[in-house]
This record gives sequence, C-alpha cells and structure tokens, in this order.
Amino acid sequence: MSFKDKVVIVTGASSGIGAAIAMSFAEQGASVVLVGRNQAKLDGVTSKCIKNGTKPLAINADVTAEADVKRIIDKTVQTFGQIDILVNNAGIASTVSFGRDETMKEFDRIMAVNFRAVVHLTQLATPHLIKTKGNIVNISSVASLRNFDKAWIYCSTKAALDHFSRSMASELAKKGVRVNTVNPGPVKTDIIVNMGLTDTDFYWDLMKGATALNRISDPSEIADVVLFLASEKAKGVTGSTWVADNGTLVK
Ligand SMILES: NC(=O)c1ccc[n+]([C@@H]2O[C@H](COP(=O)([O-])OP(=O)(O)OC[C@H]3O[C@@H](n4cnc5c(N)ncnc54)[C@H](OP(=O)(O)O)[C@@H]3O)[C@@H](O)[C@H]2O)c1
Repeated sequence: MSFKDKVVIVTGASSGIGAAIAMSFAEQGASVVLVGRNQAKLDGVTSKCIKNGTKPLAINADVTAEADVKRIIDKTVQTFGQIDILVNNAGIASTVSFGRDETMKEFDRIMAVNFRAVVHLTQLATPHLIKTKGNIVNISSVASLRNFDKAWIYCSTKAALDHFSRSMASELAKKGVRVNTVNPGPVKTDIIVNMGLTDTDFYWDLMKGATALNRISDPSEIADVVLFLASEKAKGVTGSTWVADNGTLVK
C-alpha cells in the first residue's frame, strides 16, 4: 500500500494512535505532517518517521486555536503543495459527571478538541482535498455507539463526530472526496494518563474486561485500518463507521 506522492496531515501525532498512524504513513512513503503540542514527543515521532521512512513536517499547534488551525493548512500547502489525506485523530477524554459545578466547562473543553476542531480543520482542508480527490479519516471511538459510565461528554462528542462524518461523506461524494471514521475500543496509549488519572492499570483492566476478545489493541492495529481506508483499496468506502473494538459492542 504505497502512499508515495501523498500528503497526509495527522493531528495528535505526538502520541499513541496518532503517532502509530503517522509512522505507518511515513513507512509507506507519504509526506506526513505531524500535529501536536508536546514538542519533545513530536521530536521523538519525527525521529522514528525519519528512521523508518520519510522526513515529516512537525507543526506545534493547538487544534482548538483558530490561528493554529489555519497555520496547519497553510504550512502544509506551502511545504508540500497539496493535501491528499486528513486524519483527525487528536482527542481527549474525561470522567466528569453530569450536574457538577465544572460540568459545562469540561463539556466545552472536550467538545472543542474532539468535535469543533475537526469541523474547522475539515472546512479549511476541503478545498485542497477536492483538488486531489483525497479523503478524510476521523478517529472516533466505540464510545460513539454506546454509553460508558461517567463518560457521557466523551461519548457525545464522538457521536457528533460520527454524524458529522456521515454528513460530510454525503456532501463531498459528488466532489470525489471520501470520509470515514475508525471507532476503536481500548488501545494502549497515554489517554488515561492524559485524563489525569493515576490508577492506570485499574482502568486498562476494566476496559479489557469489557471486550469479548479480552484484549487491548496496540496502536498499530488502528493505524492498519486507517491506512486501508485512506488507500485506493477502499475507493468504494465512504460514510462508514469502521469499528475495531475487540468485540466491545458484542459483549
Ligand atoms: N486509547 C484508546 O483506548 C482510544 C479508544 C477509542 C478512541 N480513541 C481516540 O483515539 C484518538 C487518539 O487517542 P490516544 O489514545 O492516542 O490518546 P493520547 O495518547 O492521549 O494522544 C492524544 C493526542 O491528541 C493530541 N491532542 C490533544 N489535545 C490537543 C490539542 N488541543 N491540540 C493538538 N493536539 C492535541 C495530543 O497531543 P499533545 O499532547 O502533543 O498536544 C496527543 O498526540 C483520540 O481521538 C481518542 O478519543 C482512543
């Protein structure tokens, strides 16, 4: 599956699933744009991409800042001349319950990263994707398809993301642009640490136990699905919600 001559933007490429996606595209010859805020982690992923494939462009940017989103698109086009694939992967989670003092603040914070930023990036990238007949892969979650205790904000943002993706798939199909989501179950990344939780083993065990296959995925498994959906092999796939959840939904 070669992505030579393809330009791919991956948000949240400094960690976990996004880092694996970026490295897989680099291995397949793509010009990859890494987006994240943690410079040390971005530098680490840059080195791995260079070692295994192509030299990426790393952009230190916050996807919730309007000027940063514009800079991501402008810098990509200035550097590589085009955009073929947009992977909206940056995401955060939280366990704030309904009805607490901090609920609405937390709702805005998660919504800004998981949904508003995707809409904004899609809006600015679309003219370039139409030119290349490119495609978008949005990293959603199995949490868009069922509720999880205390994760209603996260679940709601991912459900919104799924529906937006279907709407865009319909709207952009006539322009030759495909849009799909990948909806993982548990994947071993820094997501729990980044939620500010300390008892990480407890949460991974909980999530593992909620899967039919009794396992947690490696980020590379999600990258494999993303590369398939972004490739010519998936030329007939648009508007799909591609679940890779170790059987969470069937348990
Ligand atoms: N791990 C799982 O079990 C799981 C399951 C289903 C879905 N997902 C989804 O997979 C995606 C990746 O999550 P992960 O598990 O790989 O988590 P992670 O290791 O915590 O990585 C999250 C990434 O998002 C980036 N990010 C967060 N806020 C950002 C912002 N404002 N601007 C720019 N980048 C931002 C982070 O970059 P910086 O820290 O450098 O800013 C980091 O690269 C998320 O959308 C998540 O909802 C994960």
